[in-house]
Amino acid sequence: MTTVDLPLLPLGKGTDLNTERGVECPGDLPAPSDPDLVARAKVAKEALGGSVFILGHHYQRDEVIAFADVTGDSFKLARDAAARPEAEYIVFCGVHFMAESADVLTNDNQRVVLPDLAAGCSMADMARLGQVEDAWDALADAGVQDQVVPITYMNSSADIKAFCGRFGGAVCTSSNADVALEWAFAQKPDAKVFFFPDQHLGRNTAVLKMGISLDECVVWNPFLPNGGLTAEELHAAKMILWKGHCSVHGKFSPDVVDELREADPDINILVHPECKHEVVTRADLVGSTEFIIKTIDEAPSGSSWAIGTELNLVQRLANAHPDKKIAFLDRTVCFCSTMNRIDLPHLVWTLESLVAGHEVNVIDVDDETEKFAHIALQRMLDLPGRAARD
Ligand code: 13P
Ligand code: SF4
Repeated sequence: MTTVDLPLLPLGKGTDLNTERGVECPGDLPAPSDPDLVARAKVAKEALGGSVFILGHHYQRDEVIAFADVTGDSFKLARDAAARPEAEYIVFCGVHFMAESADVLTNDNQRVVLPDLAAGCSMADMARLGQVEDAWDALADAGVQDQVVPITYMNSSADIKAFCGRFGGAVCTSSNADVALEWAFAQKPDAKVFFFPDQHLGRNTAVLKMGISLDECVVWNPFLPNGGLTAEELHAAKMILWKGHCSVHGKFSPDVVDELREADPDINILVHPECKHEVVTRADLVGSTEFIIKTIDEAPSGSSWAIGTELNLVQRLANAHPDKKIAFLDRTVCFCSTMNRIDLPHLVWTLESLVAGHEVNVIDVDDETEKFAHIALQRMLDLPGRAARD
């Protein structure tokens, strides 16, 4: 088994681009207290004109969303990035794996820029290529590899996407995971899906949307020999779930759902599918960030909601809908710390650097990885019927 080193660099100190952790900003950032930041961002964006296109994920701060040309979930933003061939610079206000995907989907002459290189994703870091390759070999030893179709959640590094593209698999996001699983199970007789890196999205989709039983889902622990599974368990499984999770969505717990329901029997519980199975099965509605927004936009005035997803989005929804009761589904507030790395000082620094002709924080996936990651991403983009399933 390959030894996997995960150097735990404090954010903002040292450089380790491979793990997206603790990457230093290579320039002088304006102070967050600078009262001119908004005006500076406006001036720089205007100066760049049509050469820059700013994408903002729904989990970004308000101060950043204010400058986004489009906002969306990770699926929508991947499509939006691909649909802007005229923009020389795609400034991605989101996290590293999203910027990598945008780089893969855009033309070679376009540059994708991530305003803070420390904006990674702890879930994406939970599946490393060496670990996945070891697991793949172990599946061959167990005699099941020929049946396995690898599917990776968008929240994974480009080399994991490339692995899936190389071995007949695809990418999915939280808004099309069911369609991707349907596609995967149709690829081979007696197919099994190896799902990276979020066990919860994989389990929730398999059980709640595909009718697969919990017993047919097994968890592959990359830190145990053979993933901690016997050959018999692998033969019996339909879903092999990588042992990864989101640290933000993992915080939501079923007892809070029960408490809120007791306090307000009319409350609606709306959660993202990265939440644990026992939370999702207690919820009224489950879906991607785009689905969550649509649901609240269409909800009747006076209705009451508790939402289990990142706090910036929940806060924004609450502010936009003062006529509805909207609460966060946890006792303590919790932002995604890496999404929050992108702030106005980093955005201003990025835009002003581009105006001055300095390309900073360019995300450039190597050609070989890009070729196979593109195959896996294109298979996702070609999946049918996403809108109908939102
Ligand atoms: P979406 O796929 O809903 O955009 O979510 C991305 C994400 O990072 C959720 O934690
Ligand atoms: Fe990653 Fe979770 Fe943050 Fe999404 S919310 S970017 S999955 S750590």
